[in-house]
Amino acid sequence: MNVQVAPSILAANFARLGAEVAAVERGGADYVHVDVMDGHFVPNLTVGPAVVSSLKAATRLPIDVHLMVEQPDRFVEAFVEAGAAMVSVHVEVSPHLDRTLSLIKGLGARAGVVLNPATPVGTLEEVADRVDYVLVMSVNPGFGGQAFLPSSASKVRRIRTLLDEAGNRAPVEIDGGIDLDTVEQVVRAGAEILVAGSAIFRTPDPAAATRALREAADRAAAAIGASRA
Ligand code: DX5
Ligand code: ZN
Repeated sequence: MNVQVAPSILAANFARLGAEVAAVERGGADYVHVDVMDGHFVPNLTVGPAVVSSLKAATRLPIDVHLMVEQPDRFVEAFVEAGAAMVSVHVEVSPHLDRTLSLIKGLGARAGVVLNPATPVGTLEEVADRVDYVLVMSVNPGFGGQAFLPSSASKVRRIRTLLDEAGNRAPVEIDGGIDLDTVEQVVRAGAEILVAGSAIFRTPDPAAATRALREAADRAAAAIGASRA
């Protein structure tokens, strides 16, 4: 299992964003995770396509846009045009989820579906064969630095099973409270893309923190391989 790391810039210093992203790129990050919040779906405001477009020019890493906004369809095209390689929408605000996934894919980006902690796995059932990834929220969205909700590991496991049963190898991404203490349980549950904000950018050395998280994830993945062998 190849685990990937997606540092969330929500915890970065926005006045030095280029340098912050360069540091995680040096540390071996696989993506840059951008949290887009509208002040309606979640009680916070962040950034829009202009920041994605600046990041696109500043890094070779693919940009993973997590839309925490109502009516996400209205913004998909602007984010893909700005340079998003991946765009995920929350199932709670996507009444026409199949149409939204087609919209994202039609623009050439990978299409992800996000589930809040209280949203049941079953909401994914009808699109499980065609999502490009599923993002499991392991905190209630809106803020960085919150504690990991322990029920999230079992949710990752159940989603992995649902995707496998649909014949879809799409990865499960996990977001919220991921650090050196929680990484092992989520990797063991089947998470393959790890979002981390505070654990990377709220440290003196984000490059080293990225490397440390990846190494911990690789150790957990290797332990699963060894136990299966
Ligand atoms: C929360 C965001 C997360 C956040 C994670 O709504 O979706 O991406 O940045 O932050 P940490 O890693 O600090 O929990
Ligand atoms: Zn996020």
